[in-house]
Formats: sequence, structure tokens, C-alpha cells
Amino acid sequence: MKSLIDKLAAQHILSHEELVTLITQRTPEIDEYLFAKARAVREKYYGKEVYLRGLIEFTNYCRNDCYYCGIRKSNLHASRYRLTKEDILSCCENGYGLGFRTFVLQGGEDGTYSDAQMVDIISAIRTHYPDCAITLSIGERSYETYLSFFEAGANRYLLRHETANSSHYGQLHPEKMSSEERKKALYDLKKIGFQVGSGFMVGSPFQRPEHLAEDLLFLAELKPQMVGIGPFIPHHDTPFAGYPSGSVELTLFILGLLRLLLPASLLPSTTALGTADPNGREKGILAGANVLMPNLTPLEARSKYILYDNKICTGDDAATCKACLELRVNKTGYHIVQSRGDAKSE
Ligand code: 5AD
Ligand code: FES
Repeated sequence: MKSLIDKLAAQHILSHEELVTLITQRTPEIDEYLFAKARAVREKYYGKEVYLRGLIEFTNYCRNDCYYCGIRKSNLHASRYRLTKEDILSCCENGYGLGFRTFVLQGGEDGTYSDAQMVDIISAIRTHYPDCAITLSIGERSYETYLSFFEAGANRYLLRHETANSSHYGQLHPEKMSSEERKKALYDLKKIGFQVGSGFMVGSPFQRPEHLAEDLLFLAELKPQMVGIGPFIPHHDTPFAGYPSGSVELTLFILGLLRLLLPASLLPSTTALGTADPNGREKGILAGANVLMPNLTPLEARSKYILYDNKICTGDDAATCKACLELRVNKTGYHIVQSRGDAKSE
């Protein structure tokens, strides 16, 4: 087992079978061995620095109906909201004052925001905050639309592939969505020049170790600048309400593997990880993660952007979360820095 981890750390790509072996035969001792290697690699590229992203959840309307997600179209219990351009700009203003230098516009796939409106919002942020990175996380759109967003000043795009296995993808999504489309979108975004983030949930229903190995091999090929992973957590108003949460330990192990697989990548320690375990985000940092994504969404809206049950920080304002995270990160021996936090080159 340790030799497989050494092989990965030496930048040799593992076979599907070797990855399955690692995932299925891990022990607490192997976990610690991996995490120590992962920390050494992250420190080689990023030292002890942790970057912040200010998340602005600007709409929870969604035309999609993913079986796992609390803001899916069919969830008639979700109370829906949209932020205006002015609301979004005031989130940025608040975030900038708190030291944030990356804004992430995240939302459901909400067609009410036309391409022109999104371009207008992106351009306004670009003009007001020339020193900040603008990240979009708004699902699948056309190539031309991605291009117009890039030209308006967006720098990064987050679009999790969710699962690289097409039949597993079909078990998580309605028929009109496909893993081929999702993967193509990621390559399109890369071609346009976006720094791209992908990712997936650990422990989603029907997921097997073989799927996780496929996810890692897909990411080794795509080489995204960012990878977001977190445990699946059920939402009570979805078809997956009765399924168990994903394992925190396995999520941390996959984070460690990702750090070795993509040494210079930006890996968030996600809110889902912090929801599944009160110290999940600290554990994520110690497993190789180097990014945190606190919320800048106004409180009234924030409590409605609920993808899974018991989501943390829905009642705490941005300043509180920032102070809380600073304390948490300092305890790990790392520290938060005020920076755009672009990916280093390998
Ligand atoms: N549990 C954990 N993560 C979830 N996401 C959506 N629903 C859930 C859930 N129930 C993740 C998806 C999506 C990202 C925005 O949040 O991977 O891409
Ligand atoms: Fe939000 Fe701790 S990070 S309250």
C-alpha cells in the first residue's frame, strides 16, 4: 500500500486496479502516511498558505432535477430567491472589505439571468474590482456563452463532473443530462482559457470504489486547476432522502490522493466536509486541501440555498465566518492569506 502511495507521489499514474486497491484497503495508518505526503507536496507549492473564496449564492432557481440536490426543480418546498446585480455588487463590496480577492458567483441553472445580464454583472465586478478573480459556478451553458463570460472578465469556472462513469451519472441525474456533455463542457471551458474546477461527491448513492478510481483517472487526464470534493449528504426533500451520508474518512483519503495526483491544484476543504464532521474543514486542510470557500450571501438568502440537510454557517455573517475560519486554520499550523490565490504551475 505504501509503495502505491510512493509511486503516486513520484508522479507515476496508477492503474485503475491500483487505485481501487488503495481505496478499498486503506487503514488509519495508511491514511496518515498519505496525508503526510500530501502536506509535503502542498507545502512545496503553496507553503502554509490557505486561500479564501467568497461565495455568492445568487439564485436558487434551477431548471435541473438532479436526484441528490435540495434546490432541484421538483422540490416544491424550496423557497426560491434571486439576487439583483446591486445585491451581488454589495456582497462583493462587503467581501472586498473583509479581504476577499476572489468572488464565486454560484447558482442553480436559472435561465432568468440571460447571457447579456450575466455579462453585465461580470463586467461590473471586473470594473469595480480589477485585482480580484471572478469565478462562475452556474452549470452548463453553450460554448458561445462561456466565451462571452470569459471576454467579460470571468477567470474561473467551477463545474463538477459529479461522476466520470456514465451509467453512475445516469443513476444520479435525469435522462436529459449526460456525463459526456458534462465532460465536453469542461474541455470547452479549458480551451476558452478559464481556470477550471471539477469534482464530485464521495459516497453518493450507488457509488462504488471502481467509480472513484474512474473519477481520479478522468481528473488526471483533464488536469483541472481546481477540484472540489465533499461527502454526499442527504436532503430530506429529494429522491435520495433515505440514503446514508458519504464517509468523511474516505473523502479525506481521496483529497490526499488528489493532492498527489495534481500536486499544484487548488483543493477546497468544503462546506459539506465541515457539515459532516465538526472539524471536517481542518481535517481537509491537514489532508492536503489549501482553499476555503466561506459564504458572502446575505443571510436571508443563505438559509434558502440548501443543497443538503444541516448545512453549516447558514446563520453566520461573512465577518463571523472569516474570523471563525482564521481561528480554525491557525490551529492546523497553516494560515489564511489575502490573495487571489491563483494556481501555481507545476
Ligand atoms: N450532498 C453533498 N453535495 C451536494 N451537492 C449537491 N447536492 C449535494 C448533496 N446532497 C454538490 C454537487 C454540486 C455542488 C454544487 O454541490 O456536487 O456540484
Ligand atoms: Fe462559518 Fe465557522 S466558518 S461559523
